[in-house]
Amino acid sequence: MSQSQEFLTKIIKEAGEILKKHFANPQYTVTEKSGVDFTTQADTETDAFIRKAILSEYPHAILLTEETAQTNQDYSELRKAKQLFIIDPLDGTTNFKHGVPHFAISIAEIANGQPITSVIYKPVTDELVIAEKDKEGATKNGITINVSNTQNLREAVIACDWPWDLGKRHFVPEWLSKLHPKVRQNKIMGSAVSDLVSLASGTIDVYIHACLKPWDEAAASLIVEKAGGKITTSTGEKWDIFKPDILASNGTLHDKILELINS
Ligand code: IPD
Ligand code: CA
Ligand code: CA
Repeated sequence: MSQSQEFLTKIIKEAGEILKKHFANPQYTVTEKSGVDFTTQADTETDAFIRKAILSEYPHAILLTEETAQTNQDYSELRKAKQLFIIDPLDGTTNFKHGVPHFAISIAEIANGQPITSVIYKPVTDELVIAEKDKEGATKNGITINVSNTQNLREAVIACDWPWDLGKRHFVPEWLSKLHPKVRQNKIMGSAVSDLVSLASGTIDVYIHACLKPWDEAAASLIVEKAGGKITTSTGEKWDIFKPDILASNGTLHDKILELINS
């Protein structure tokens, strides 16, 4: 394990304790944002904790965190950053607020637009998922994970989700109407980070989303790729962590899904 991975693993577990405390005793404040979006004191406290910890270790690093980012900004300028940390302090806030333990913390260290270290932690189930650019494979609690080997659409389990951007929500019923007659199951589980980890672990076969932010996808993308998965945009173009629409799959099903949703 590299030094930065060791450090990020330590702080993500400490951050997990903050979320667990609020999850067990939901007295936290809730702040409404635009549209149907909202945030909680658990999101902001965890965000502040991670920011402080990273800046005390790496004072010159640039941070992009969900709770401090400008909304609707084009973050792609950050492609040039030599040491950037992209952080989602709580992915799956709706699940968290509704007592559903399917939520995660996500931290990616990025150099020149490429994830080099990823750590994701699901505090309630104590699952730590990590990958490094220069190391083979991705692991969950120290055990190598792999995408599924599902080959046929009729056996495929697909997950997607509703973007906060209401203008992009029409993609969900459009994709589902094309997918549901052909695939075994469609799920909407409420945490892009956790769902991408499920893809990397082989428990689902495909994940599609019309409008993710870099903090939803950066760490998970390296994990998916290291676990043998494939990522493009939903129309099959080259994807990177600053592109909002994403099709991630076990690889084998990728072209079949692309053909179906773009038909
Ligand atoms: C959201 C979740 C959700 C996805 C949204 C994300 P948040 O993240 O990942 O599954 O559909 O687009 O914004 O707000 O819970 O961190
Ligand atoms: Ca979040
Ligand atoms: Ca998120």
